[in-house]
Amino acid sequence: MNKLSIVGAGLVGEAAALIIAREELCRELMLIDVQGELAQGKALDVWQAAVESGSDTRVYGGSNAEMLQDSDLVVITAGVPRKPGQSRQDVLSINLPILDTIMRDINRHAPEATVLVVSNPVDVLTYRAWSLSGQGRDRVFGQAGVLDTARMKCFIAEETGFSARDITALVLGGHGDSMVPLMRYCAVGSVPLSHFLSSQQIERIVERTRQGGGEILGLKKVGSACDAPGVAIAQMVDAIANGRNRILPAVAILEGEYGRTGIAMGVPCVLADKGIVRVIELPLDAQEQVMFDHSADQVVRDIAEMNAL
Ligand SMILES: NC(=O)c1ccc[n+]([C@@H]2O[C@H](COP(=O)([O-])OP(=O)(O)OC[C@H]3O[C@@H](n4cnc5c(N)ncnc54)[C@H](O)[C@@H]3O)[C@@H](O)[C@H]2O)c1
Repeated sequence: MNKLSIVGAGLVGEAAALIIAREELCRELMLIDVQGELAQGKALDVWQAAVESGSDTRVYGGSNAEMLQDSDLVVITAGVPRKPGQSRQDVLSINLPILDTIMRDINRHAPEATVLVVSNPVDVLTYRAWSLSGQGRDRVFGQAGVLDTARMKCFIAEETGFSARDITALVLGGHGDSMVPLMRYCAVGSVPLSHFLSSQQIERIVERTRQGGGEILGLKKVGSACDAPGVAIAQMVDAIANGRNRILPAVAILEGEYGRTGIAMGVPCVLADKGIVRVIELPLDAQEQVMFDHSADQVVRDIAEMNAL
């Protein structure tokens, strides 16, 4: 990939930039933030770390939207994370105008760019970004499930004692509270998880995964999760930059899949060089469909609230 821009040089933007630059996933990396000097300072730091790691990715920082010019991919990490006591609505009312400004800048300076939304609430903001972009759903999508599955793999490794390398997990649906784990598709070394764990143990893992972001925020007090989100973003960037045809969960606009149209939900997708080349529709059993519908209804309500703002 020639040029990648990350808008939002906070904790998550910086963590993603570091991995992307060290792994040389693009030639030029722009770190853009309303706090221009902060972005410049972080860009220098990340560039130097990349060079030390043997990468030639050149990293620039600043606040000028013109830096977006000719980006192949724009990752949006600008906006506040949810703090204890804040509602989804509180965060949305702060992050929605931020996203709108960034989409206006992208449409002006990099209208052909693929857009990866990370800012929360990611399902609603992905829907908004796609609506404002005028692009197909293949080009505008969000990150949530790669992080949620990573969290779930940690807790499965802890509970089973097996290497996390052999664990596969799959989640659908909204990010966080309304995540839909598909435990039938979770396995250790291809052996279904139910072979090793009781339903109570599995339920504990699911609940801890749902609260994964909150658990970290509660302990850190200042600043939320950033390193694992950074790796999750880098994985999606790698799939796109290297045209890998990887199956990864992404927040995608549904066009009839899972019985829904016109909402953004976490679903397994095939990611290749321009973005999503296919949304994978898995057959759900009755219980999974109920959970999926519950999650989708929440996103529908959130989109309606957003439209009312
Ligand atoms: N989808 C996920 O899996 C996931 C995971 C972690 C965090 N997040 C979300 O990512 C977002 C960023 O989190 P963080 O911890 O990095 O926050 P942070 O507060 O550390 O950084 C946010 C940055 O955005 C910048 N910003 C604000 N308005 C801007 C604008 N108009 N243009 C450019 N930059 C702007 C701020 O100056 C700040 O540097 C939050 O909404 C958080 O909830 C999502």
